[in-house]
Amino acid sequence: MAPAKPLALLLFSLLLVFPSAVFAASVLAIDYGSDWMKASLMKPGVPFDVLLNRDSKRKIQSSIGWKGEDRLFGSDAFNLAARFPLDSFSNLKSLQGAAIDSIQAHYHAKISPATLVPTERGTVAVKTSSGAEWSVEELVAMQFAYVKELAEGLAGSKVYDVVVTVPSYFSQFQRQAVLDSIELAGLRPLALLNDGTAVAINYAMTRTFPETEHHIIYDAGASSIRATVVSFSSKTNSASTSASTPVEIETLGFGYDLAAGGTEFDRRLRLILAEQFESKNGKSLKGDAKAMAKLWKEAGRVKAILSANADSNVAVESLYQDIDFKSKVSRQTFEKACADLKPRFTAPITDALTSAGLTLNDIKSVILTGGASRTPMIQAAVRAAVGDAKIAQNVNADEASVLGAALYGASLSPQFKTKEIKVQDIAAYNIQISYAAEPKTPESKPRTIQTPLFYSGSKTSVKKTLTLKRKDDFSLRLAYKDAKPEFPQPISEIQLMGVAEAIANLTERGAKEPVVKVTVLLSDSTIASVVDAVAHGQVKDDSIKGKLKGLFGSNESKATEDGSSEVPVPTAPAQEEPVVEYKPGNIQLKFVETPLSIKPLSAEFRAEARKRLIDADKVELAKRKTEEARNFLEGYLYRLRDLLDGEETTPFMEFSKESEREKLAELHEETLTWFNTEGDDADQVTFWAKREALEALEKPIQTRYEENETGPGALTDLQQALFAGRMFLTSARQNETEELAAGLTPRFTADELEWVEKQLVDNEKWLEERLEVQKTLAKNDDPAFTTAEMKARGVTLQTYVLKLMRRKQPKVKPTSTSSSSSATSTSTSTSTTRAAEETAPPVHEEL
Ligand SMILES: *[C@@H]1O[C@H](CO)[C@@H](O)[C@H](O)[C@H]1NC(C)=O
Ligand SMILES: *[C@@H]1O[C@H](CO)[C@@H](O)[C@H](O)[C@H]1NC(C)=O
Ligand SMILES: *[C@@H]1O[C@H](CO)[C@@H](O)[C@H](O)[C@H]1NC(C)=O
Ligand SMILES: *[C@@H]1O[C@H](CO)[C@@H](O)[C@H](O)[C@H]1NC(C)=O
Repeated sequence: MAPAKPLALLLFSLLLVFPSAVFAASVLAIDYGSDWMKASLMKPGVPFDVLLNRDSKRKIQSSIGWKGEDRLFGSDAFNLAARFPLDSFSNLKSLQGAAIDSIQAHYHAKISPATLVPTERGTVAVKTSSGAEWSVEELVAMQFAYVKELAEGLAGSKVYDVVVTVPSYFSQFQRQAVLDSIELAGLRPLALLNDGTAVAINYAMTRTFPETEHHIIYDAGASSIRATVVSFSSKTNSASTSASTPVEIETLGFGYDLAAGGTEFDRRLRLILAEQFESKNGKSLKGDAKAMAKLWKEAGRVKAILSANADSNVAVESLYQDIDFKSKVSRQTFEKACADLKPRFTAPITDALTSAGLTLNDIKSVILTGGASRTPMIQAAVRAAVGDAKIAQNVNADEASVLGAALYGASLSPQFKTKEIKVQDIAAYNIQISYAAEPKTPESKPRTIQTPLFYSGSKTSVKKTLTLKRKDDFSLRLAYKDAKPEFPQPISEIQLMGVAEAIANLTERGAKEPVVKVTVLLSDSTIASVVDAVAHGQVKDDSIKGKLKGLFGSNESKATEDGSSEVPVPTAPAQEEPVVEYKPGNIQLKFVETPLSIKPLSAEFRAEARKRLIDADKVELAKRKTEEARNFLEGYLYRLRDLLDGEETTPFMEFSKESEREKLAELHEETLTWFNTEGDDADQVTFWAKREALEALEKPIQTRYEENETGPGALTDLQQALFAGRMFLTSARQNETEELAAGLTPRFTADELEWVEKQLVDNEKWLEERLEVQKTLAKNDDPAFTTAEMKARGVTLQTYVLKLMRRKQPKVKPTSTSSSSSATSTSTSTSTTRAAEETAPPVHEEL
């Protein structure tokens, strides 16, 4: 239906369309995985790369946790599990948009001791040990907000627009949960992008495809394995150079497996370790949340080692009841425990090919991506299935998805000029629409009519219009056609209103068989919703044009404007009636869409949750600031102690007076006592005030020391400036005499030279006086003149003289207009001098 949306994407360099100062929007991309999240920022002037976290890491663990009042993110939150297993939350991705009794929630209980509780909507929330409940949407939102803050640190400005990747198998409920999290985080969703498509975009950025190529993106992640068949083609047109040849990316099919990802490997490996411990020590760990959390972390470490080695040591200190656990696991043992998963590694490839209607022969390469694609048993299985020659490891397994998403995001913003790429994605599931048939007779049994609307594998970003013969208000239901274990079928119910009135109106205006047309959009984020509903019919055209046409007859086509299938409307005029011309008549219908099954967050919850998150951010920021202020004061107190206790010969001692040190020591003592007794409860303002009070006492000493360092240099500079000024004045006066003798206008006015003279005298006098005073002063007295004063005087003089020096030498001028204009200028400059007194030096500007 709707054509592929053209996306102008970027290649290599960002080209600014608008000046950055005026409109420097940025686009954030987040690849939110079950174990790790990656982010990237697109902003003109900021190098395009993966966003680093506070520890300069390129990926961030998708974990959140609470240690008492403190909220932790990333590895801090993940590592918290070993000590506070009930307050550390990971692997939340599969819980997005999932019901509390879903298989996803049940599986989560197998891998984590976190307490899962139902929300009002029947979805999943966690309960911390302090009793606080957080919905999965909020937990993910906090992680998005954390990334937002990192991005804003890099951008130096607010970031709102975001593209988030999702697996192609995500249902509308799961997608809606991601959208809700984006909104709670204070971000604005540009789109959700299927991660296979994101990798394909990344792959296409540096390539052209003179001939159509088919590739499989094989993405082995923590929570699933996905395979996507993608077609790439370059539309060559003679005008375009190879770098700007537009590329078309079309998803043709995909397959997935939700049981055989990296998380399941961790779970099985942990089981092996727990059993080893049990057989060695005769104690079962399985009920012990802390021990199991420690083993979870160890399993992840061992898994990574087994990717490169035949075996791995296992070592966990004080795993359970103070018993250290030391052991060994071989890759063979691990792979044996996963043997049943093996067919699942490659089934997604087969499924993807089947849904695309292609065979392996049509595929140029299988591009491996995703963290678990490094696991040897997965690689071996894929190699065996597709052959070594087809394996490609030519994208960054961890970052291709987020970088592709960022490029996609840039393409949606008019600010970035990019290589042109057309992207066409497809839907994962069949969606149907159903409604109750109008009873033929009052007694006839109610009958439900089901109509397929979107098919699995059909294009997204498409609208479909359904035409129904109805006379009264009625409702429609959008639903997934086929039952899946991961999510329910009903999506939403749409109540149409005002049908009877609209139909009556059309009928009255001459429509013979008016109908109701309902338009459903499957968005580029693969969300189905009703976007339009109208009553429609061919009504009599009462306009002059219509009447004229009616008189002379018309041979206009009856095809409707959108080309969708129509109930035919008879237009043949009745015999005794005059010829009547018809035109399409549409009356907008009101409709209300109510989500079914797993509902999006309600508006009230949304507002409340947003406030809760903002408050949490505020509390954290205040805490961080207080901590910072406390550390500053503490450090300062230590440094001051050292200075006061230092040797006689330190600069601090030399430049300070006894009385100053006594006062400082007194306040230091007082502040230290305060710090040790009340410093835990103080706020940042108090910390800063305490520090400022001490600094005020130290400042004069500090200044003397600095003056001793910089003063001599400044003095020499000023003396040199005065000397140069004298030289200038002497030379100028000499020239003036010569110029007057030759009948020329002197190069400088009398005012100008007088001003220089006055400056010189004034400065020489000041300097002499000050130097006399300085001789009588000790090191710990404030100096008689400051570096700043000397600099200011020197600069004023020098700037003025240099300005005069740039003026052209006088020449003999023709005796006409120019000499009179010169005279005018001179008189102007004189009057300026008088008006401004001595503050501004006179300057005779020559134009
Ligand atoms: C039909 O509706 C239109 C507005 O949509 C209104 O202007 C018109 O008067 C109505 N006609 C009848 C016959 O109700
Ligand atoms: C009928 O169609 C023909 C050819 O399409 C056109 O030239 C002619 O003007 C039409 N007549 C009227 C009355 O619209
Ligand atoms: C003061 O400055 C002079 C040179 O300008 C230097 O030799 C001397 O060490 C400085 N005094 C102190 C205590 O730093
Ligand atoms: C005086 O005249 C000489 C020779 O023309 C020139 O080099 C010098 O810069 C002049 N001095 C001033 C202060 O204008």
